[in-house]
Amino acid sequence: MTSTSAKILFDQKPAKNADTRVVFAIEDGKHGAKLTAGARDLDAKTKGAIKRAVAAADFTGKKAQMLAIPGPEGISAKHIIVAGLGKPSDLGTLCFEKIGSTLAAQLNTRKSAVADVSFPEEEAKASKISADAAAAHLALGALLNTYRFDKYLTKEPKDKKPTLKSVQLTVKDAAKTRKAFSGAQKIAEGAFLTRDLVSEVPNVLYPESFAAIIKKELAPLGIEVKILTDKDMKKLGMGAILAVGQGSARLPRLVSMEYKGGKKGQRPVAFVGKGVTFDTGGISLKPGPGMEEMKWDMAGAGTVVGLMKALASRGAKANVIGIVGLAENMPSGNAYRPGDIVTSMSGQTIEVHNTDAEGRLVLCDALWYVQQKFKPTHIVDLATLTGAVIIALGHEYAGLFSNDDALAWDLVSAGRETGEPAWYMPMNDAWDKAIDSPAADMKNISGGRDAGSAIGAHFLKRFIQDGVKWAHLDIAGVAWSSKDRTGVPKGASSFGVRLLDRYVANNWE
Ligand code: BES
Ligand code: MN
Ligand code: ZN
Repeated sequence: MTSTSAKILFDQKPAKNADTRVVFAIEDGKHGAKLTAGARDLDAKTKGAIKRAVAAADFTGKKAQMLAIPGPEGISAKHIIVAGLGKPSDLGTLCFEKIGSTLAAQLNTRKSAVADVSFPEEEAKASKISADAAAAHLALGALLNTYRFDKYLTKEPKDKKPTLKSVQLTVKDAAKTRKAFSGAQKIAEGAFLTRDLVSEVPNVLYPESFAAIIKKELAPLGIEVKILTDKDMKKLGMGAILAVGQGSARLPRLVSMEYKGGKKGQRPVAFVGKGVTFDTGGISLKPGPGMEEMKWDMAGAGTVVGLMKALASRGAKANVIGIVGLAENMPSGNAYRPGDIVTSMSGQTIEVHNTDAEGRLVLCDALWYVQQKFKPTHIVDLATLTGAVIIALGHEYAGLFSNDDALAWDLVSAGRETGEPAWYMPMNDAWDKAIDSPAADMKNISGGRDAGSAIGAHFLKRFIQDGVKWAHLDIAGVAWSSKDRTGVPKGASSFGVRLLDRYVANNWE
């Protein structure tokens, strides 16, 4: 781990060393905020400090509203935070995550190091989910919010660093809640690995070093990790991904991750990630401003790796293959050119019209390889494939393309449940025709600006064999967040880890 995050604990007795006590209030129609049992208790101990503050401030108890009360009398903690729950009957999993996430941010704002959260058992019982699920989701939201990639900040003043070290949820049945949280914690740890990888810089993370990290992280979890070198890839005829990487001093790698948690002999589901560790555009060079962002052009691969970690460490009962195609897209005397025709592993030839449409070239060999080697029935690929998906969907949805409605809607549902939404986009034969080439089996761009994300999807579809169910998630708009979101501090979002973990849980276990 190259990052920091806070610890989450569960206990039945309040944490003695807490500098901040967190209690809750609900939104009560005309009467404004109504204190929960824990809050009333603390109010009595502090001679009415909470009721006074609630009355004085504009605090209605609405969902995720926070009220900080500094220096309360009668207790050792330096702060009280009253957190709004809204109306308990409205609360589902994502609401509790939002409350937890906002709370963690508030705790850092108040410079809290150790917080005790008096979990609102009664109100949680009145919610849409069970009390321990509610506590687990609140904890997950808090944990995900505290992630921070700070390994290169050597001179950061102490008062700029986040203070929060631990959050204890004080609950009725700590063992039960801990159990409810354990899976979620594993998923968060997978997401943190993804964030670490996606945040890592391109002089440190390149195909060879990326492959080594995958082996080091995943092999101990019982995942079989196999690294193909450029030589291996050449033997297999992976002319497309090799072309992308040939301009770089750092040569491509392809890594497979095999996790067997399901029935023996059952064909697996496969996740395939684009891992362009830096995308300059190549000879079709990108403009300079903002190019540093292209360090996260490996987010699809980073997501697959974090997902595999999450699945294996929570012991998912499914057979799952992860594949990442890793290459660096650089211009050089050895770089591939517009006009080159390359032969992919599938045997299909591709006329390169733009070396910046490199992700599809990386993926087409990875997709063919996974089908030949592992015979999956379903494949989901993830890629920061097109700027066009940001034009279509902004930063709120991943673009989803598929050759199978059932698979697509399963992914849409999993995304809704986990707060990582995907929007199902259409496929159309006209977009397949648009990449026909007179000189080769296809070209890598259409040449126009129309439906750019769909063109990318149709290119990939040409590498899916008959009968294989396939979906493509274009995550260019969602892999990196320029603002804080629920459970996602600015930066690498790990979008897809939670969605696909849930997809596996819902459909394969
Ligand atoms: N990695 C980019 C897509 C991208 C853009 C990701 C912005 C994240 C943010 C991809 O390799 C690319 O350059 N795509 C081209 C395709 C075009 C040449 C058909 C694009 O979107 O401009
Ligand atoms: Mn590109
Ligand atoms: Zn790219």
